[in-house]
Amino acid sequence: MNKKQTIDLDFDRQHIWHPYTSMTQPLPVYPVTHTQDNKIYLATGECLIDGMASWWSAIHGYGHPVLKAAMHHQIDTMSHVMFGGITHQPAIELCKKLVAITPNSLQKVFLADSGSVAVEVAIKMALQYWLSQGITTKQKLMTPLKGYHGDTFAAMSVCDPINSMHSLYSGFLPEHVFVPAPVSQFGQTFDHHEAHQLAEYFAAHHQDVAAFIIEPIVQNAGGMNFYHPEYLKTVRQLCSKYDVLLICDEIATGFGRTGKMFAVEHSQIEPDIMCIGKALTGGTMTLSATLTTDKIAIGISEGEAGVLMHGPTFMGNPLACAVACASIDLLIEQDWAKQIALLNDALSSLHKCTELTHVKNVRTLGAIGVVELTDAVNVEKIQAYFISQGVWVRPFGKLIYLMPPYISTKADIDTLSNAIYCAIEGSHFK
Ligand SMILES: Cc1ncc(COP(=O)(O)O)c(C=O)c1O
Repeated sequence: MNKKQTIDLDFDRQHIWHPYTSMTQPLPVYPVTHTQDNKIYLATGECLIDGMASWWSAIHGYGHPVLKAAMHHQIDTMSHVMFGGITHQPAIELCKKLVAITPNSLQKVFLADSGSVAVEVAIKMALQYWLSQGITTKQKLMTPLKGYHGDTFAAMSVCDPINSMHSLYSGFLPEHVFVPAPVSQFGQTFDHHEAHQLAEYFAAHHQDVAAFIIEPIVQNAGGMNFYHPEYLKTVRQLCSKYDVLLICDEIATGFGRTGKMFAVEHSQIEPDIMCIGKALTGGTMTLSATLTTDKIAIGISEGEAGVLMHGPTFMGNPLACAVACASIDLLIEQDWAKQIALLNDALSSLHKCTELTHVKNVRTLGAIGVVELTDAVNVEKIQAYFISQGVWVRPFGKLIYLMPPYISTKADIDTLSNAIYCAIEGSHFK
């Protein structure tokens, strides 16, 4: 295959919006011609080792032959058909697998098309459930600060109200109950004051609260906070005590990233509703799912509306479902937990960054490594440096982090870690 392409960067700059950018003063974009394994190839000739797994989704790397074969087969059979009034084997197969690998009580699956939409669906499920029970006061959500759940409006309304850009829309967004972000760190001692504080919030607000929504164990885009499993366990207990549903957003943490298949397993709890996305298709197609219990699904279905009010055009897209099945099989057929443990060992090389000034904290969990600086990073400058070092790392705020594809080798991680060390040491981030 001829990988040489002319990429019209002028048109891109004039007409195309990239994520979180200005149209008049955009950050540079790097033209990519192709990807393979854990490498990204630029039109300018560079080959970059990927530390981001395409926003944490490409767990098997790029161009995996098994995923490609699944997609080719499905394209030849049926790329898409509406899901209203129709069903198909790829969706059924996928939902069987999801019911099997997620916590036992999650039995009913809603297929959606992105992480944010899975969160919207989860919120609708919670609200509709209480309405179906004749309880009309439960119209709010409760959530910790520093969370991130997506960019659509209901999802935004439960993102951190201060750190996220979503404060721009604050007048338009529904107001929810924010509790303090988890403080006790994973692997350290749990401060029981956090549990008492949570209990006070539940006691004060439960009558108005339909659900507590949280990213289990890792608060991701809101700050890469690895928190103590006891926090989540406490939330589960309080949800049960106060009749508040628990929504766990596993969109970033699901499929092994934290060392467990799903991060809720660190706390040995089961949510009432769970959202998954990102790595669901191994980073090949957009697909997400919201799973819930029989009790909630039956409640909604026997309520006044009688149906869950959601149905996207590309719901249950067969192509995405087929490749998701292949990706899940690929993951569970290998010793993925061992591979994550090896990556975690390799990521410990980031700890040498602690000797540098401007480094506040270095932490790792599963296949996630984070270097937190004292000041915000100049993304344009550091990214240019990373390209010169042959790596793809995209920091945000004060955080330089790695969430590499699981196929990365120790040598790849060393190259990524070393580039981060040198970027900070050489002040390429200011
Ligand atoms: C925890 C979490 N929830 C939801 C989302 C939104 O997913 P999407 O970007 O697919 O809409 C993200 C995306 O980063 C996420 O990390």
